Amino acid sequence: MPTPVRFQAPPGTRDILPAESARWRRFVAVFEGLVERAGYGLVIPPVFEDLGVFLRIGEDTEIVTKEMYDFEDKGGRRVALRPEYTASVVRAFVEHSPVTPWKVWYAGPNFRYESAQRGRYRQFDQVGVEVLGADDPLLDVEVIALAWRFYQALGLQRVTLLLNSLGDGGDRQRYTEHLRAYFERRRGDLTPQSRETLQRNPLRVLDSKRPEDAPVIAEAPTIDSCWSTEAARHFTAVQEGLTELDVPFTVQPRLVRGLDYYRRTTFEFTAEALEAAQNAVGGGGRYDGLVEELGGRPTPGIGFALGVDRTLLACDAEGVFPAPDAGVEVFVVDTTGGREALILTEELRAAGVRADRAFDNRSMKSQMKAADRSGAMVALILGSQEVEAREVAVRFLRTGGEQVLVPRAEVVEFVKGKVAR
Ligand code: HAM
Repeated sequence: MPTPVRFQAPPGTRDILPAESARWRRFVAVFEGLVERAGYGLVIPPVFEDLGVFLRIGEDTEIVTKEMYDFEDKGGRRVALRPEYTASVVRAFVEHSPVTPWKVWYAGPNFRYESAQRGRYRQFDQVGVEVLGADDPLLDVEVIALAWRFYQALGLQRVTLLLNSLGDGGDRQRYTEHLRAYFERRRGDLTPQSRETLQRNPLRVLDSKRPEDAPVIAEAPTIDSCWSTEAARHFTAVQEGLTELDVPFTVQPRLVRGLDYYRRTTFEFTAEALEAAQNAVGGGGRYDGLVEELGGRPTPGIGFALGVDRTLLACDAEGVFPAPDAGVEVFVVDTTGGREALILTEELRAAGVRADRAFDNRSMKSQMKAADRSGAMVALILGSQEVEAREVAVRFLRTGGEQVLVPRAEVVEFVKGKVAR
């Protein structure tokens, strides 16, 4: 037998325990309610894919060059754990050719080998949507507004929507060259890391969060001068639609995002309550070339993903969206050996009441303590006297008041009436 060792969850991963896990599940349930009301269906792609699927995110993005969990499986295939959903969803779209517009939502874990810190994990969850097959700027508005409504539903007040357009493929290319020329001129003012990034992709320099790079980035050319007429018109329509829906936004002309597939509309949500380095709680945009890159017919696409971990940190910081009361409603105390509790909890649960009990034939005092800790409103007490008289003593743990005796045959109905929410 191997020597016993105490293990911890790997760096950058966490255990989500009760009651936080109940909050987590409710978070996804609120999201599900919102997007399903808007006609989105759930898609569940595999957690790992052929590495090639994710290389389409951009060969010189950090996600691909530094952070991919890729490996060769036992069959010699090069696979990777999903670092994000979009490429997987597009792969599924190309594989199944569903009727368009195809509107889907998702929720689940992603994997990126990042330097782990609060708000930045190696396994993190996202909820998000993707829509394939529609060009309409009003779709951009629907998608962005859904994310915005979700933050509102959580109760978050201090979230900012940053909006930009990266133009079409050619616009983006022209802008990249403008940027290259500019950054080359200011090379001496950039950090060594940004100088290296500049070699690979000048757009990525705009992503730098290093304070030393900030003055150079602040004066960098903006992309609006490179937009085609069509891209500019699209962006105006998106802004008008958001204004019509009262979704506030700030146009941020240097917002490029960390993935290479974006075209036209891009956006990010930042939470002011969080530290700047990890304050992006969500983001998305159009990726009108990705379907082709993954072997499909030219098809426009747009979507967003929100970080569950980070958004919940923002909720903590704003004191909103608390963990729901996940405890039981009724706690059964049995000092006659435990069999009576076995049967009564079974009946309560069958009647839809959340019920728990103590084990190991503890003392009355110890069982009452457990009842208090359980969060139950009601304790049902079965001592030998009660069992003999075919009664149950009912004690109200939160509201106090007299203990009452209820016939055993009626106690389930009685309790149901008391705990009805
Ligand atoms: P992303 O900006 O890479 O976009 O990630 C979206 C959100 O996931 C971020 O805003 C952040 O809240 C969260 N997130 C990312 N990395 C981490 C991490 N290491 N730890 C904790 N949270 C993290 C995408 O993933 C795109 N697929 C979004 C999209 C969908 N674009 C179009 N459709």
